[in-house]
Amino acid sequence: MWGGRFSEGPAAVMREINASLPFDKRLWRHDVAGSRAHAAMLGARGIIAPADAAEIDRGLADVAADYDANGVPDDLALEDIHMLTEARLADRIGAVAGRLHTARSRNDQVATDFRLWVRDAVDEVLGALGQFQAALLARAEEHADSVMPGFTHLQSAQPVTLGHHLMAYHEMAARDASRFSDARARMNRCPLGSAALAGTGFPIDRDATAAALGFDGPTLNSLDSVSDRDFALDYLGAATQCALHLSRLAEEFVLWASQPFGFISLSDRWSTGSSIMPQKRNPDAAELVRGHSGRIAGCLVALTVTMKGLPLAYSKDMQDDKPPVFEAHDLLGLSLAAMTGMVESATFRTDRMRAVAESGYATATDLADWLVREAGVPFREAHHTTGRAVARAEALGVMLHELPLLELQAIDARITARVYDVLSVDASVASRTSFGGTAPARVRAAIAAARGTCR
Ligand code: ARG
Repeated sequence: MWGGRFSEGPAAVMREINASLPFDKRLWRHDVAGSRAHAAMLGARGIIAPADAAEIDRGLADVAADYDANGVPDDLALEDIHMLTEARLADRIGAVAGRLHTARSRNDQVATDFRLWVRDAVDEVLGALGQFQAALLARAEEHADSVMPGFTHLQSAQPVTLGHHLMAYHEMAARDASRFSDARARMNRCPLGSAALAGTGFPIDRDATAAALGFDGPTLNSLDSVSDRDFALDYLGAATQCALHLSRLAEEFVLWASQPFGFISLSDRWSTGSSIMPQKRNPDAAELVRGHSGRIAGCLVALTVTMKGLPLAYSKDMQDDKPPVFEAHDLLGLSLAAMTGMVESATFRTDRMRAVAESGYATATDLADWLVREAGVPFREAHHTTGRAVARAEALGVMLHELPLLELQAIDARITARVYDVLSVDASVASRTSFGGTAPARVRAAIAAARGTCR
């Protein structure tokens, strides 16, 4: 493709280090689409003969059908998907194929192809996030009243409902979807026609190619267009944050599935056995979601460091932009699908969750709040009084709501029998009616609101 000024071919290692075809063949659909839009524009503007444009278009459709049927071959001599496709086009239609690359460079070509690919990747993730959210909503609705211990410092803190806990992950997923949507809106500008770096003297129509490829319009600066990979970094940034949310839920599932917690059992379809310990049911998928999040974050770091310090405009370093994005996308797709499957099929051991919520003095705050509300005690003093009640209950080996009234009154004479109304875990969660709180009525309202805004 560029042999004119060379008298020797490349060294074998040169060929190998230079080639991106083994990975960028994943761009083939987008490469063909970009070339068809470009050829049509060249024909419409009379830059090439309309008959040649039509022949190129037919030839590209044939090349695409061949790739689809037989896969894309690894021909390192052809370097990348752009050169391979042009060579395959020439095999079919001869010298006319050489007119396709008029008013274009591989620099604007790859920038366009990769944007198209990442845009599709965003759409796939948005679909998968929608399914994950639907699974969370369904299980949250089922468990809007199920009491579980809420934790801070992984210590029983206050009772919450399982529905509320699951809806916390729904919130994270909603922010993830909004980050991907933002990234999509920002990347939806077409670099095609920026040529190598400076634009072109041919009378091209960048609005036409942008529209044909579903972009909102052309990018504004040719130097920026061929050297910008923000869209890929935006994707990786959103993917990293999404993966870390999945990793947190995965970690909870790993903990909850352990014997000391016993809060869930994962379905057989989402568990693995041990080759030596017959009793084991391991949460491997959750562990791998947790593990994959580290690799996805690594992909973001990889591309960030690749781009750091590159002068304008294109440098070959940028060919390394694609592997981390492909890797992150594959890992994120698997992680989202696996977490969705686990959420859908897990059995929540609500009896065990309730027992643990009742055992950790988790309603101590309710006692303190009762003293403030019913006896006019300042909160700090109520906190101290309640601490003494907890210590007394611990000494007697009973739960807070099992402490006899005389014991409570020995600590503070203002306590009456009505206090027992707030000491049960159900009363505690039902009382948390503030906006965004864990009361079952609030959780149901949050689910209904989420259903209204989700697809
Ligand atoms: N395979 C290259 C890449 O992915 C295409 C652009 C090559 N441009 C160039 N001037 N060598 O970055």
